[in-house]
Amino acid sequence: MSNIIFYFSGTGNSYSIAKGIQKEIGDTIVVPLLKAEDYKAAEYNIVGFIVPVYYLHVPEIALKAIKRISLRKDQQVFAVADYGGTLGYALQDIREALADEDVILQEYKIRMPGNYILEYGAFPKAYQEKILKKAQIQISKIAGSILENKSTGYIEPNLIAKLFHSRSKKQMSLFGEIGSELYTKEQCVHCYQCVKLCPTKNITIGEGNLIWGSKCVQCMACIQWCPQKAVSHPLMKKNRRYYTNPNVVVNQSGEFEFK
Ligand SMILES: Cc1cc2nc3c(=O)[nH]c(=O)nc-3n(C[C@H](O)[C@H](O)[C@H](O)COP(=O)(O)O)c2cc1C
Ligand code: SF4
Ligand code: SF4
Repeated sequence: MSNIIFYFSGTGNSYSIAKGIQKEIGDTIVVPLLKAEDYKAAEYNIVGFIVPVYYLHVPEIALKAIKRISLRKDQQVFAVADYGGTLGYALQDIREALADEDVILQEYKIRMPGNYILEYGAFPKAYQEKILKKAQIQISKIAGSILENKSTGYIEPNLIAKLFHSRSKKQMSLFGEIGSELYTKEQCVHCYQCVKLCPTKNITIGEGNLIWGSKCVQCMACIQWCPQKAVSHPLMKKNRRYYTNPNVVVNQSGEFEFK
């Protein structure tokens, strides 16, 4: 393969964008960002990063993984940040994380359905479909731009992001504490899909129940993908609607697959 795309994804949106771009540009491998150490990114022609936005930023776990990657100065490097409503500082984060690599980053953004079930339920289906249809068009445009190796400008935070920035930092500092309050309801069938999916191995199997530790990065995977809707949290209101990307499934090993 000539090109490589790294993704970080809780509910499949970022993964689905990675697969969409892979399909359009061809000759590309798609791998989880947290497994980047298994690949020599500097050996590929094009390197891409697809990440969601959490509280106006790239999730810290993803940003740390990006910082650890070595690249060549003459490599084509692009990043796509996907978000539910306000993009914020995500592309600035990636630009800064790659500063030492001396590469010119091609910056893109795609709006996707929001997934933060601790704050809100899934958008209505028709609205999700509208967003996903637009996203598909954008994926094609971005792929075209990547193939032409077009330079892009910087994507900077807007005024809303600047106004809410102080709140975002505070919220991020609470991720571990909030995550440790997750729990299973009685309908849990002990399939352990949540355990396999958790990017920080934060869920351990106790005597008859699951225990959430303090390493949660709030990706929402354990809650949103549970086949029994058995994972809950004191912040979750009753009957809140679940969201996972409709084009993505989780296989037996807890890995994403494109439908
Ligand atoms: C903890 C958390 C914080 C989020 N914060 C933001 C945000 O600040 N701005 C935004 O537009 N979307 C925000 N979102 C929504 C996600 O960025 C969006 O749904 C993204 O496409 C999810 O990607 P994924 O399915 O690959 O995980 C947040 C989601 C989570 C879980
Ligand atoms: S994924 Fe759901 S049903 Fe399976 S072990 Fe986790 S909480 Fe239980
Ligand atoms: S505990 Fe759940 S929400 Fe937290 S990082 Fe693991 S899978 Fe994601």
